[in-house]
Amino acid sequence: MTATAVAHPNIALVKYWGKADADLALPATGSVSMGLDVFPTTTSVTLTDRREARDTFTLNGRVVDDGPLVRVERFLDLVRGMAGSDARAAVVSENTVPTGAGLASSASGFAALAVAAAAAYGLDLSERDLSRLARRGSGSATRSIPGGVSVWHAGDDAGSFAETVPAPPMAMVVVTINDGPKEIGSREAMRRTIATSPFYPAWVSSTTETVGDMLAACAAGDFTRIGELTESNALRMHATIEGAFPPIRYLTSRSVAVFDAVVAMRADGIEAYATADAGPNVVVLCRPEDRARVAGALDGFGAVIESGTGPAARLLRSED
Ligand code: PMV
Repeated sequence: MTATAVAHPNIALVKYWGKADADLALPATGSVSMGLDVFPTTTSVTLTDRREARDTFTLNGRVVDDGPLVRVERFLDLVRGMAGSDARAAVVSENTVPTGAGLASSASGFAALAVAAAAAYGLDLSERDLSRLARRGSGSATRSIPGGVSVWHAGDDAGSFAETVPAPPMAMVVVTINDGPKEIGSREAMRRTIATSPFYPAWVSSTTETVGDMLAACAAGDFTRIGELTESNALRMHATIEGAFPPIRYLTSRSVAVFDAVVAMRADGIEAYATADAGPNVVVLCRPEDRARVAGALDGFGAVIESGTGPAARLLRSED
């Protein structure tokens, strides 16, 4: 049995930063994101002989035999538990994010793996349950199951899933900054932030409020408010992370220069708003009709990639 699925990355407008339960991957707050229509990950899961000792994982044509394989195996253990199966699997994944583009591939990766593995093991899961399953692979993958703009609810295991919400048409321009420091992974950085940043409790309370404000702005089609909340929430996340000890600083001087350029663009009448995840790259939210101008204005800061709003993760085929 082989099943193949495709999923796209997403960029949070209201960020997920901190777990309430690490084992179940439950977030401390809700979050809201826009799915991208560029850089799909396509993943096939083929069930193999039960006697195989391990699963296998091939990424962009290379056999992976270290940390990422262990993460894939743990994820498949969950699927096997749900399906009552002990069959091992061969996972083959093609990730189209260009090397160094700085877009997290774990969101599209675990969303595609969740859809393909569920089908290969014969599970018939709703979008909600696929989203809950993807959550166990990587938090942000929860939001790569539904399409468009989606909210990931905080809650217990049953209640923590993502779903599409109504929102106005939007676009993003990804600005790749190549001179960033070596990143500290989000898992360790979240742990350190929770343990040591004095700003973390305020991050949780303010973000909980911002999720509500963002959903109201999306429902009202209020692009200006969506942008203002997006930029503010990103800066609050980075301030909270920088407050950890030892400090963690993801934004470089070039990242900050892009934030400045976006402020200058607004002064010139182009409505654009900046955000950044756990790395130096900056993603700029704008109206679809402005994306080419925004991309042109930011070209000098690094490689720019334009994206519209993306589709839901989906099963491409499954065959015996
Ligand atoms: O993808 P994860 O679960 O390691 O965490 C992602 C964290 C951020 O990208 C910084 C924010 C977000 O909500 O995507």
